[in-house]
Amino acid sequence: MDNFFMPTHVLFGFDAILKNKTLFHNLGSKAFIVTGRHSAVKCGALEDVLNAISEVNTEYVVFNEVTENPTLSTVEKGSDIFKKEKCDFIIAIGGGSPIDAAKAIAILAANNISASDIFNPSLYDKAIPLVAVPTTSGTGTEATHYSVITNDKTNTKAGFGSPLIFPKYSFCDPKYTITLNPLVTRDTGIDALSHLLEGVYSVRRNSLLMPLIYRGVDYIVENLDTAVMDPTNLEARALLMQASLWGGIVIAHTSTTLQHSIGYPVTTEFGISHGLANGIFLKPIMDLYHYYIENEIEEIFDNLGFSRQDFYLWLNRQSLSSPRLKITEEFIREKAPEVLASRNMALNPCPITLADIEKLYRGVMR
Ligand SMILES: [Fe+2]
Repeated sequence: MDNFFMPTHVLFGFDAILKNKTLFHNLGSKAFIVTGRHSAVKCGALEDVLNAISEVNTEYVVFNEVTENPTLSTVEKGSDIFKKEKCDFIIAIGGGSPIDAAKAIAILAANNISASDIFNPSLYDKAIPLVAVPTTSGTGTEATHYSVITNDKTNTKAGFGSPLIFPKYSFCDPKYTITLNPLVTRDTGIDALSHLLEGVYSVRRNSLLMPLIYRGVDYIVENLDTAVMDPTNLEARALLMQASLWGGIVIAHTSTTLQHSIGYPVTTEFGISHGLANGIFLKPIMDLYHYYIENEIEEIFDNLGFSRQDFYLWLNRQSLSSPRLKITEEFIREKAPEVLASRNMALNPCPITLADIEKLYRGVMR
């Protein structure tokens, strides 16, 4: 049985925040704004949020300490300040890191649990209302119930999912993405592309999602180069943001697969961005899955009007590699079993063995 569930109210378009500022009234009288150090200021999103909430007489506290790969310690600190300041709701501005951190804060601040309990949704039953303001086009976290947090006590990156953390509202304004540099634009776009493709790969694939997937892949392939070369091209930026949102909606239903799991150790070990880590394995994963779900994969390209080989040529032009990627046999010995043990292995369209994962890593050795 196919199902479609998306409880987030999405406001998509230019000046989405200012045009819909009265919605903040529904959430309380004091906002806790979660961001990183710089990007929310640089892209203008923080200014829009502050203008909007001051126009509706909402008080606020800014917590701008979220870094890339947000940690449990940051989440704990944010939750403590949220409670001390007696805030009512959270506004998360940024790429995946601030929004994911805010989702974790929303859980920790609302429940009487310890920080590491956020990874176990059976231990809690409420969350602080959350507003998401994405400033990249990639993670799709503005439309998911997932959060990925690094446990800095164990140095592992772990995700959790709970319907409680679907944002209440997501304000998606493409103008915030025009300040992204070409590499971030490319890597986040590739992350969104992975999410859309995993909607086809996952055994939870769902026919209600297919129009979003086909159109989303098309938007990325047709517009990513434009946005990389002409960052202020608002039309391309808007289409990429739409594709990213759809990618989020897709994985909220299908979850991710080996395509994501295999990239996580590459991110933590070599400091390679999440999107690029996915991108490095896009072709080998598609090749691997194609043997098992040829029709499903070919249908993507039938709908797009270009071949899988054309897609590979396009991928090749994206130069998805990094000099920091230094995979060794020792890395493979340590990480391949971790990947095999990840929760989403059950969602692959075919059985995956340790040898498959080792082979994928060896295939991208330099
Ligand atoms: Fe992702």
